Amino acid sequence: MKTCITLWSLSLASLVFAQNGTLDLTKLHNYANQARPAYITNRDNTPGTNPITDAGATLGRVMFYDKRMSRNNTVSCSSCHQQARGFSDTATASVGVDGTTGRHSMRLINSRFSLERKFFWDERAATLEAQTTQPIRDHVEMGFSGASGDPAFADLVNKLNAIPEYRVLFAMTYGSPVISETNIQRALAQFVRSIQSFDSKYDVGRAVSNDNQNFANFTAAENRGKTLFLNPPPQGGAGCATCHVPPHFDIDPNSRNNGVIGSLSGGVDLTNVRSPSLRDSVGPLGSNGPFMHNGVFANLSQVIAHYNTIPNNPANTNLDNRLSRPGGQTQNLGLNQQQSSDLVAFLGTLTGSSVYTDVKWSNPFNASNELSVIILPSAVTTTINRQTNSYTMTCRAAPGLSYGVETSTNLKDWTTVTSVAADTLGNVSYSADVVPPKAFYRFTYTP
Ligand code: HEC
Ligand code: HEC
Repeated sequence: MKTCITLWSLSLASLVFAQNGTLDLTKLHNYANQARPAYITNRDNTPGTNPITDAGATLGRVMFYDKRMSRNNTVSCSSCHQQARGFSDTATASVGVDGTTGRHSMRLINSRFSLERKFFWDERAATLEAQTTQPIRDHVEMGFSGASGDPAFADLVNKLNAIPEYRVLFAMTYGSPVISETNIQRALAQFVRSIQSFDSKYDVGRAVSNDNQNFANFTAAENRGKTLFLNPPPQGGAGCATCHVPPHFDIDPNSRNNGVIGSLSGGVDLTNVRSPSLRDSVGPLGSNGPFMHNGVFANLSQVIAHYNTIPNNPANTNLDNRLSRPGGQTQNLGLNQQQSSDLVAFLGTLTGSSVYTDVKWSNPFNASNELSVIILPSAVTTTINRQTNSYTMTCRAAPGLSYGVETSTNLKDWTTVTSVAADTLGNVSYSADVVPPKAFYRFTYTP
């Protein structure tokens, strides 16, 4: 049990500083009401049943970074989706609890704003919610598959139930500490949807221009690259925008494959028709590649070379017809060296900055994978109303949690007075008559 004490003539603030490995539930980050550019507002794949809340995304963040979400405590979502890499992985195939993945990891940038609501390279997950527990249930990735000697998903639920912090986080998010696959999915999806990147050089230019104008903040090469990206091949462009549609740069839901059909396991795979947003293909540490479902291209120049001459492979019966010419010829753009580097320069303008550094998307655990959760208020405000001779203490607390109120006259023996719930903004307060000669009150929390 943890407590927060206050006297009726004195407020006692316990000093707690945010530090790595400490999660302060009385001061949640803003996930629910993040600003975004005016030209982005018309897109949102959040279902009505799962709006982002600060509490839910916080729970999602903890699970996203928690290695205990894998069967042997070695792999978390963040092992393969790293903040410093635009939430992807520089390895072609990522390491899971038993071997490596069959496809390359995907960046998780602006997932919320993709018009295509199905997820994975082959769009096999019907929603983002459904996607989030598939890696947990995967034998290779996190290992709660319930097959091949693996524990089952129910074993993960039991494991989380035995961790008091999770009972608190689930209670704060859903009003009940009950843990279920649906509630795990919702919180993970809220966290993933919260990851947004709209502070790129492109956004600075786009805020005051439309795409068809030259941007004043761009170099000549970046503006030429933008024109190439936007214009279709008959107008001398590279036709990228018909599938990677600006200003989101997500994938056109009607896209078929782009001619990259090699599978990491060696065979042919025609099913890869989704791409992450092309935003943040490059990051502060360099390329966030390798690129494509099989990571076959180490950098963006190789990507452009691919689109310049799409391989004419009769085995590819699912090639998007925007990349083939009447008569069965595949696309040959004839881009010269400068045009290719102009396109690469333009793609570099789509890189944001806060998504790589903002604490709210970072690992809350410390280097030893420990996490302390602050539940009780760090500052107490007390007000005494001399007219009614009543006293009110107010604290910032974890939204929705129920706190006990206890009283004492000697600071040793405490009796429970009542319990009060923090409101959805995290305010908890208790009022009492002032009892002479003196009385002490405190909030308590029992998970
Ligand atoms: C072992 C590495 C690994 C782990 C662990 C992992 N992922 Fe992934 N993730 C991948 C790979 C690889 C893909 C692409 C797989 C495919 O398309 O078949 C992917 C795809 C995704 C996508 C689809 C993105 C899109 O735009 O379609 C989301 C969302 C995602 N992962 C979220 C998560 C979450 C949440 C977790 C933790 C519960 C997680 N991942 C754990 C490797 C991993
Ligand atoms: C017909 C639709 C289509 C067109 C046109 C198109 N792409 Fe793509 N693009 C895709 C698809 C589908 C994928 C995912 C394919 C895969 O991984 O197998 C993709 C993947 C990519 C990727 C890799 C993304 C990642 O995270 O690995 C980059 C970069 C890219 N495209 C850039 C471009 C550029 C630049 C152009 C113009 C020269 C272009 N694309 C034209 C459909 C298209």
